[in-house]
Amino acid sequence: MIKFDKDNLLFNLITKNTGYIFCIYKGKFPVHIHYGRQVSDITDVELTFPHMRRAFSPDDNFSDKTFSTDTLPMEYPFYGSCDFRSPALHAQYIDGSRVTVCDYEGYEIEKGKPDIKGLPHTYQDKDAECETLKIFLKDNLKGLKITLCYSVFEEKDIITRNVIIENQSDDPIRLNRTLSMTMDFDNMDYDFVHLFGSWANERHIQRTPLINAAITIDSKRGTSSHQHNPFFALVGKNTTEDMGDAYGFGLVYSGNFIAGAEVDQFGTTRAFMGINPFNSGWMLEKGESFYTPEVVMTYSHKGIGQMSRNFHNIIRDNLIRGKYKKAERPVLINNWEATYFNFDEEKILNIAKKAKDADIDLMVLDDGWFGKRDDDTTSLGDWFVDENKLPKGLKSLGEKVNSLGMKFGLWFEPEMVSAQSELYKAHPDWCIHIKGRHRSEARQQLVLDLSRQDVREYIIKVVCDILSSAPISYVKWDMNRHLSEVGSATLEPERQVELNHRFVLGLYEVLEAITSRFPDVLFEGCSGGGGRFDMGMLYYHPQIWTSDDSDAIERLYIQQGTSLIYPASSMGAHVSAVPNHQVGRVTPIDTRGNVAMAGQFGYELDLNNLPQEEFDAVKLQVKLYKKIRHIVQWGDLYRISSPYETNHAVWQYTSQDKTEIALFITTILGKPSARFENARLKDLEPDKIYIETLSGKEYTGAMLMNIGVYFRDNVDFNSQLMVFRVK
Ligand code: GLA
Repeated sequence: MIKFDKDNLLFNLITKNTGYIFCIYKGKFPVHIHYGRQVSDITDVELTFPHMRRAFSPDDNFSDKTFSTDTLPMEYPFYGSCDFRSPALHAQYIDGSRVTVCDYEGYEIEKGKPDIKGLPHTYQDKDAECETLKIFLKDNLKGLKITLCYSVFEEKDIITRNVIIENQSDDPIRLNRTLSMTMDFDNMDYDFVHLFGSWANERHIQRTPLINAAITIDSKRGTSSHQHNPFFALVGKNTTEDMGDAYGFGLVYSGNFIAGAEVDQFGTTRAFMGINPFNSGWMLEKGESFYTPEVVMTYSHKGIGQMSRNFHNIIRDNLIRGKYKKAERPVLINNWEATYFNFDEEKILNIAKKAKDADIDLMVLDDGWFGKRDDDTTSLGDWFVDENKLPKGLKSLGEKVNSLGMKFGLWFEPEMVSAQSELYKAHPDWCIHIKGRHRSEARQQLVLDLSRQDVREYIIKVVCDILSSAPISYVKWDMNRHLSEVGSATLEPERQVELNHRFVLGLYEVLEAITSRFPDVLFEGCSGGGGRFDMGMLYYHPQIWTSDDSDAIERLYIQQGTSLIYPASSMGAHVSAVPNHQVGRVTPIDTRGNVAMAGQFGYELDLNNLPQEEFDAVKLQVKLYKKIRHIVQWGDLYRISSPYETNHAVWQYTSQDKTEIALFITTILGKPSARFENARLKDLEPDKIYIETLSGKEYTGAMLMNIGVYFRDNVDFNSQLMVFRVK
């Protein structure tokens, strides 16, 4: 609900458990008042924020010397006048001046949620009504109009923000910095939580107190990256999984971003998030509008766990689209770690046949099926089948897989070109590069310039042709390097700086065209594992390969971090061979199965190479996963123990109707005289009886929540999966 108090120009955005309040102070300045638990009435705005004048703070409010924007909590700060903290917006005008001063012009409230042109975004659907508030601001001297958009998903405790910047002058305006949001907090008593990492080591959790400086995470790599995820949380110093304040911010964007929290001279905090202004900018011509990506925000007073569940709900229900939004996802097997580039039709069919014996739903053919790609040195861009490996073509292979009773899926890396390829020979200017400069290759490949329409058309055509040529039900869409020597052969010099953002816009256009033409195909995103695991990609790809590290123990950390914002249904997780190909670790088949079953389940090995007893275990895993996948994919996640803080990871998923529970317990290192640990379940009905379906044992909800389930950390990498059902 959006309440407007016209006497005080006060906006109160109310969700089930939260409230977000700001006012137009003195009829002119949008000033942030509160985000947190609901405050339904404000008697006097003057009481809601400290607005004393301070030394060295200029007066931007003319004759009224009682305050300065340098010390007010601003809703969307501009550079150039009296607020010296980091601004949300920095623009440059035709006369060279770089000062923006906007006045409030009015507001609009509308039902639903408008699209954000060219960008992915959350949307309203019938189960989650939403309302949108638009605040109009204008710099009358320079003709710059700003629309601050707030959409309120009341039932989901989610508020989204995005900004539209319009040039209403006769001259071009250069936008140097266009953040999607800032939010001022009146103190610095928070910890900053973020997800950092590297290839095969993504989304590790770091929690650090705010300091009297700025903490910034970002990407300058052209994609959201393995290194930092476009997400952070500000949580109270005593906040735990289940208690305390937790503010979460996630950006629906897949390119260079910046996010963080800056503490100012008086110990107030400005949180911020948006497109990275570094090496970026946009020339806005007369009459044109620029759209920032959307930030999804949530607040929970019930700790980090509830913050995560709020994100999971909005992502599953109001970001992910298409057939697989609600459909249970298939169990897949992928040949990458089974064969790498060394396969032929027979090998793939042998893997598929064995997988069918285990009732696996989908056979995915990974890299190496096209051009002359026997290793990673060639052929990206040459999307025609390699007849040496598959003489009868993809159609024949797909049909043979189908005749086993399985679906068939295929890997692509459409944004790339190998220097050794027909495509590169024909179009050496199609890649991102700067004339005369060395073109740095990574994994022997270059990035196609998706700012170009001819390149986008080529990609759409080749991918659609392949998808129409064979019975393909699934696509793994990979992206295996970042952008260097960022330049385009076709952009005018003054627009070269726009290339990073134009690349992302081009990618979204290509993805929209292909995914809408093939609505029945399940798309899984990938970027050297989870190098582009963000809400932007989830708009097109309901699931993403979480990491190239498939080791069960490494995955405990990666999946724990990923789950802070992203739901299990989006998190590709596979059982692979031992010794593990990334870290050499040997873990039991049950543990590999249990860790992968906590996500979007599949296999990444040749089941023909397993001893019979392990293959029997695989059969049981697939059978069990199919019984519990609705709990994992659509249920509520409660993290009970963190591998970052304890010697084990314990996760509970509760089905939406609260009658079924899957409990995953995994030990990291065994301790010979380990004490008994107990996993206390969360949010059950105390008086109901819960039957553990695998053992038949019965517990009350109160027992499970207060006494818990006992286990011992006495064996390395041990794990258990328990499934409860209300009697
Ligand atoms: C990336 C992916 C892997 C695999 C390879 C193929 O690294 O993350 O899963 O598809 O590419 O080259």
